[in-house]
Amino acid sequence: LPPIDCEPLKALVRTVPDFPKPGILFYDITTLLKDRKGFAEMIDAFAQHYIGSDVDLVLGIEARGFIFGPALAYRLNAGFVPVRKPRKLPAPTAKVTYDLEYGSDSLEIHVDAIEPGQKVILVDDLLATGGTMEATIKLVQQLGGEIAGLAFAVELDFLRGREKFAHYDVFSLLHYD
Ligand code: PRP
Repeated sequence: LPPIDCEPLKALVRTVPDFPKPGILFYDITTLLKDRKGFAEMIDAFAQHYIGSDVDLVLGIEARGFIFGPALAYRLNAGFVPVRKPRKLPAPTAKVTYDLEYGSDSLEIHVDAIEPGQKVILVDDLLATGGTMEATIKLVQQLGGEIAGLAFAVELDFLRGREKFAHYDVFSLLHYD
């Protein structure tokens, strides 16, 4: 099957100036998600990219990775693993801390969420600087997972986040420059 061209879906993305801070143009995909054809096409486009590649797990990053990850996991006949903000997961966890513009943030995963050697696709809504995904990759590596791809709904090309991931297959549905 040919890859799906998601470019027309941009018409369903709402742009909000000065959110969450002055000077930032926010690409709001809630207007795309509530469109039944738009949402289906996004999941189809993700699935098309990975179909046939024998994926064990789809991992979603809190919070908006939880919108796409489970739908994609279902389509690929894979399991779903949540990566969460600190102190949300009940069983023993691995933790990674990463730098933000001001301060730092942490993410956690259950230590038994991935078996060594399992093939995992990592999903989030947005690739900006790539810091969040870089931290998540470290968690997956700690558990011995094999990273089969990095998937994003939206990629902000001008921030060059993908340069952090030269060794991986990086797949984004919508690109903005
Ligand atoms: C946003 C987005 C990604 C991350 C991308 O999350 O959902 O997870 O930023 O930015 P980066 O590539 O520069 O790391 P946010 O911090 O807004 O948290 P939220 O998803 O819980 O709202």
